[in-house]
Amino acid sequence: MNILIHNALVVDGTNPPHCGWLLTSGAFIDSMGEGDFRGDIPVGTEVVDARGCLLMPGAIDCHVHFREPGLEAKATIASESRAAVAGGVTSFIDMPNTIPQTTTIAAWEDKMARAEHSSAANYAFMMGATADNLAELLAAPAHLMPAVKVFMGSSTGGMLLDEPHALASVFEAQGARIVVHAEDQSIINANIRAAEPIADPDNMLWHSRLRNAKACVRATEHAMELATRYGSRLHVAHVTTEAETRLFDPAQSPVGKQITAEVSPHHLLWTVEDYARLGSRIKMNPAVKTATDRAALRDALATGRLDIIATDHAPHRLADKQGDVFHAASGAPMVQFSLPAMLDLYDPTTVAWRYAGAPAALFGIDRRGLLRPGYYADMVIVERLDTPHIVSDADVVSLCGWTPMAGSSLSHRIVATYVNGGTSPLPLNFKQ
Ligand code: DOR
Ligand code: ZN
Repeated sequence: MNILIHNALVVDGTNPPHCGWLLTSGAFIDSMGEGDFRGDIPVGTEVVDARGCLLMPGAIDCHVHFREPGLEAKATIASESRAAVAGGVTSFIDMPNTIPQTTTIAAWEDKMARAEHSSAANYAFMMGATADNLAELLAAPAHLMPAVKVFMGSSTGGMLLDEPHALASVFEAQGARIVVHAEDQSIINANIRAAEPIADPDNMLWHSRLRNAKACVRATEHAMELATRYGSRLHVAHVTTEAETRLFDPAQSPVGKQITAEVSPHHLLWTVEDYARLGSRIKMNPAVKTATDRAALRDALATGRLDIIATDHAPHRLADKQGDVFHAASGAPMVQFSLPAMLDLYDPTTVAWRYAGAPAALFGIDRRGLLRPGYYADMVIVERLDTPHIVSDADVVSLCGWTPMAGSSLSHRIVATYVNGGTSPLPLNFKQ
């Protein structure tokens, strides 16, 4: 199959946007050009007039929780990959806190087989580090395994690895990139002990007080110390504080950085002030922080101190989100509305780079993340709306059927998403 998309405002990820066209051939981009398409249109080509729309690389979401296997009541690879595609995301990297946890090669192979069968987007799966699965981690096929995930703070799935020697041994022995969830569990525990007599557990603000900036900064510093000591490649997931942003290298490209960092749309969008309106819908780990932190995160993504956008898409049923600060589940579905929300916050080239080009560069994803002849034809057409759309739970494709974006207005709409030029989804390949 060939597709010709013309009259689009082409945002290729590095060059300034320009009016032009793109022709695919099977799974790949065949050719691109500025202005009108003047060649012969190959027989059988689907022609798409994208006048008034952006044509961008499909987003690469390097941090999602699609819940399969074991938590299919919340989400499945089939349901969430379709939510991803509805949101302009063409590739995802899924996290290991499923049931069973993805801490063995067998569990990882099972996920790959499930995705081959049911995913609507290109896929990869991280393995998780435990105190005793080093041999399994080292046996993982490097070209299909993006990184090893370490939970330094507890979260959904009970994968905490905070014992100092076990943590150090993962950094010492691991050749693959290490992705950390950086919250210091001992600080969180001390905060909980200190708060017990005074906390009002029905006030979600306490979530951000218990999982405070100090816990994040201490864990990120600890991970950076270990990476520096052992020469490990480190990626810090979902950074939330101004203090952490100052720790990272401001180069615009992640290529060549030993230590990289990511930010999640919910931390760019919301602050502690939004609990009053959104309650447990924005209870997540790490917690949302102050307006000052949010401003620093927005700035750090523009300057390159934060390298990539990744959603931490973490669907739970609304029933799981009920209860007080100690009982409501942490995490929210974000994969479907993040691309339009980011286009409302940043210019299209910045979004294309931070949510497609830079993730591909950071993880070494083969021929994806930019619009380039010879690359996979992972593309999204986005319309700029004259009248903003007010998001509601009824718009949600994710199995959980709700979104923390409900009530927010978006002035961009995903018109069409193409995964591998409309051919079948594929496993992501990584150049180490
Ligand atoms: O809020 C969160 N939810 N943070 C995580 O680290 C895990 C996630 C989940 O899996 O629910
Ligand atoms: Zn996560």
